[in-house]
Amino acid sequence: MKELKVQPIKDGTVIDHITPGNALKVVKILGITEKQPDSIISIAMNVVGKRGKKDIVKIENRELDPKEVDKIALIAPNATINIIRNYEVAEKHRVSVPDEVVGIVKCPNPNCISNTREPIETKFIVKSRNPLKIKCYYCEREVEDISSQIM
Ligand SMILES: Nc1ncnc2c1ncn2[C@@H]1O[C@H](COP(=O)(O)OP(=O)(O)OP(=O)(O)O)[C@@H](O)[C@H]1O
Ligand SMILES: [Mg+2]
Ligand SMILES: [Zn+2]
Repeated sequence: MKELKVQPIKDGTVIDHITPGNALKVVKILGITEKQPDSIISIAMNVVGKRGKKDIVKIENRELDPKEVDKIALIAPNATINIIRNYEVAEKHRVSVPDEVVGIVKCPNPNCISNTREPIETKFIVKSRNPLKIKCYYCEREVEDISSQIM
């Protein structure tokens, strides 16, 4: 029997290997308080695993949509998304940052066309991955604090 750091869940999602300290940002991305007032979540922070410290977020009875997974990749590049069905890990996916980040980050430049003309979707080009650096496709502004600009 494997040791679990928090209570096992029957069905849902475990977001594992979150960059230590970032679990609350992950919960914010999932919008639990506003959108899902009934969803049960457990958070473990600074858990010591085989590969060092990590945070873990478990959500019962919910699977994530691709946009949520892309947002998580921006703040927790090593995270794994484990889908739990009937107490077992049924699927495991590593998150990945795409070459172009579309529609999930707001440009910090208030004069950027993506902020002034409503129907234009935001778009950023990935300049480096470690550390993650993204630059607006329209105005070339680099995003200093990516997590604060996630939509
Ligand atoms: N039924 C469950 N309820 C809650 N959490 C679970 C359940 N089953 C597995 N987990 C958690 O999901 C994560 C992935 O489980 P898994 O058994 O794949 O671990 P692992 O082999 O250490 O995987 P990895 O190599 O990705 O770290 C772990 O954090 C584990 O504690
Ligand atoms: Mg593990
Ligand atoms: Zn811009």
